[in-house]
Amino acid sequence: MSANAGHRGQAETSAGSVWELQAGGYHRFFSQFTMPVARPLLDAARVTAGSTVLDAGAGPGHAARAARARGARVVAADLSAAMLACARHADPLLPLVRADAGTLPVAGGAFTAVVAGFCLPHLADPAAGTAELARALAPGGWLAVSIWDAPARARHTGLLADAIADVTGTPPPTPAVPAGRLRELLQAAGLDHAECSTLRWVHPVPSAQALWDGLLASPVAAAAAVLRATPAIQRRIRERFLTLAAALTDAGGTVRLPVSAVISAAQRPPAHGPRGYRPTTAASAPQASGLMLWLSRKMLSGS
Ligand SMILES: C[S@@+](CC[C@H](N)C(=O)[O-])C[C@H]1O[C@@H](n2cnc3c(N)ncnc32)[C@H](O)[C@@H]1O
Repeated sequence: MSANAGHRGQAETSAGSVWELQAGGYHRFFSQFTMPVARPLLDAARVTAGSTVLDAGAGPGHAARAARARGARVVAADLSAAMLACARHADPLLPLVRADAGTLPVAGGAFTAVVAGFCLPHLADPAAGTAELARALAPGGWLAVSIWDAPARARHTGLLADAIADVTGTPPPTPAVPAGRLRELLQAAGLDHAECSTLRWVHPVPSAQALWDGLLASPVAAAAAVLRATPAIQRRIRERFLTLAAALTDAGGTVRLPVSAVISAAQRPPAHGPRGYRPTTAASAPQASGLMLWLSRKMLSGS
């Protein structure tokens, strides 16, 4: 437990600075779970060669890099400079913008596709944030978002949540956006043809200890709940966690974790669609920053 004591202060910082302080821990541990979702997310947003794509809350930039590999023109946006540094390290040529996904400095209708992998639950107002992502979409463009499934199916975080609930009687806070509400959020943002799919796989983690260490170094609510507990309670949660993990561990010590992510996508109605949709203009974009506007206009012009 002593190895984790240094994380206590981090767990108590504000939500925004947690992503700055724990970007490395998140990338080292969580990228193995989010990376497999990048391509399905792009598929849901209909990203192909020539698409203009915004990856909002891009973190280490998995979806943005995969979109570039498809021949799309991409901007990766994130609020955290440390996260953008991870993305830059992975691909020094990836266009990056530090921006709040809830108030994008981008002209309305600038992108043919917008993706937001595991980002919505972290926004101050997920419904308003979804509407803002939809605003960035060109008429006919697609928004695709992903979140983790319920803890009973997303065991990479569910194991720790269960261990906490078993020991303290109080489960960690549930995500701000439950999987069942995704499609509703997209529809409320004025998007059409909302669809939802679930991606399930079994992910190998070398050991239960590696899983524990990785989770506690990541900015997840369950880890913060552990780090707020007394050392005695932390010890009991860890013991319970290792017992639960043992049930998923093979003879070689590898934990075979069931992981489940929910992807939802929907389309911005065409400009002259049946609902009389009128595209927003650059002038109505909040906080229009020169760089982002320049990038989005350049992408649309294809130059
Ligand atoms: C769970 S990570 C997902 C990262 C990446 N999309 C992936 O799939 O690996 C959430 C990301 O959202 C970013 N984030 C949190 N709040 C944000 C906000 N208001 N605006 C933009 N990005 C935000 C964090 O810095 C972090 O990189």
